[in-house]
Amino acid sequence: MTPADWWHVIDLPDGSATPGGWDLRGVSRQLPWPELAGKRCLDVGTADGFWAFEMERRGAADVLATDLASPFQARARERFEHVREVLGSGVRYEERDVFDIEGEFDVVFVGYVLQMVRDPVGALEHLRAVCSGHLLLLETVSMPLMLVPAPLARLDARGDGREWFVFNPRGLRTAVELAGWTVEEQRRVREGAGPLPEAQRASRSWKYRLGARGRSCALRATASGEETRLFGRTG
Ligand SMILES: C[S@@+](CC[C@H](N)C(=O)[O-])C[C@H]1O[C@@H](n2cnc3c(N)ncnc32)[C@H](O)[C@@H]1O
Repeated sequence: MTPADWWHVIDLPDGSATPGGWDLRGVSRQLPWPELAGKRCLDVGTADGFWAFEMERRGAADVLATDLASPFQARARERFEHVREVLGSGVRYEERDVFDIEGEFDVVFVGYVLQMVRDPVGALEHLRAVCSGHLLLLETVSMPLMLVPAPLARLDARGDGREWFVFNPRGLRTAVELAGWTVEEQRRVREGAGPLPEAQRASRSWKYRLGARGRSCALRATASGEETRLFGRTG
């Protein structure tokens, strides 16, 4: 596999790392992790699997990685399987849209997936139904929309049809609360680009490189407590 193929930077046992465009190792150190030791964990939209392997590394008892059946993910799945083998990992994999996930989990991780889902509140609501513990959400938030003191989201965040929404931090929190979760903590985190191949680097716009397109925000919520959802399924 060539560097351009890899999505995530993932540490390997021989001291090397996969040459991905996204180095989330520093992001991981900034997250408000819930207790993972002995827990059943779910990684939604795993791509190459960085967060799934990270939860296993941090002591999770069982990790299920899920992602779509798509041409992008078919290639990512090969990389995932390669890393799983090299790590001797026990992380399981299932091809699933977020709305089709079944089971019961103590911790649900959702990294940069919400922006790609047409009904993000519905997705969060579905995940609450399969989680008895914590949600850890990592998502891009809009810098311009941060200036407005209201819970907001903008459609077609990149203007190229690849993302449905980008929220401001209040909007992200409100979406989570409307889906029935209780937010415990929310914080901004600094993103980490990996050793990008030149072609990929050039394709990232000036807005992206200057951070004007978005910043990352992490949020930990619990499924326990009163449901705060205000609306019925049909709105
Ligand atoms: C930007 S990547 C993020 C990958 C990884 N979670 C991370 O934090 O780096 C978004 C991932 O979400 C997946 N995805 C998009 N829509 C999805 C859906 N409806 N259900 C599950 N996964 C989805 C994509 O296939 C892709 O792997």
